[in-house]
Amino acid sequence: MRGGIVMIAWLALISGGWQQSLADASSGRGAPDVVYVATPSDVVAQMLRLANVTEQDVVYDLGCGDGRIVVRAAKQYGARAVGYDISPLRVAESLENVRRNRVEQRVTIERRDIFTVDLSPATVVTLYLLPEMNERLIPQLEELKPGSRIVAHDYEITGVTPDRTLTMTSKVDGVPHYLYLYITPLRLDDETLGDEP
Ligand SMILES: C[S@@+](CC[C@H](N)C(=O)[O-])C[C@H]1O[C@@H](n2cnc3c(N)ncnc32)[C@H](O)[C@@H]1O
Repeated sequence: MRGGIVMIAWLALISGGWQQSLADASSGRGAPDVVYVATPSDVVAQMLRLANVTEQDVVYDLGCGDGRIVVRAAKQYGARAVGYDISPLRVAESLENVRRNRVEQRVTIERRDIFTVDLSPATVVTLYLLPEMNERLIPQLEELKPGSRIVAHDYEITGVTPDRTLTMTSKVDGVPHYLYLYITPLRLDDETLGDEP
């Protein structure tokens, strides 16, 4: 049931994202590994609450879409924030969002492949990506300082035990959303650790 609802939400937006993927691929600078689907605003608010964001934090959103998470982290909590996206269209939307909300002093947007980003300066990382992407990010997430928080939306980090899980029904889209909080150091499952005794 849960997987079905999540899948329908993604499929509903897949055609527009697919066109963008083709445009990015033809630009020769790398296509997105997942299509753009925005996190509803009330879910964004809950993700930042779950991560206990304060003005001391440096928040990274990996695949930042229109920049809504990093803009809110800066505007509501006074945090510094960085949004990374591989799509030039999403980067342009994020930059416009930052400008409109006048948070240029605290928010940076960069066009980058998230799998090449050094995450060590971040204290909070937000993810709304596919499970295999979350799993592929584990070596980078392990570079975070102890006590850093990771909040994953709808998809867990496979092979890592969350410290807290939360389900909420968004007033924006009327469907359940699943949030997973991980506090570093990550608690890797035995399988993820490998075969050594
Ligand atoms: C599901 S959307 C999430 C957007 C935003 N974080 C939110 O929650 O509203 C995923 C985003 O990841 C971006 N993306 C996909 N693969 C990427 C990659 N390898 N590097 C950087 N961004 C990527 C897409 O362009 C898209 O904007």
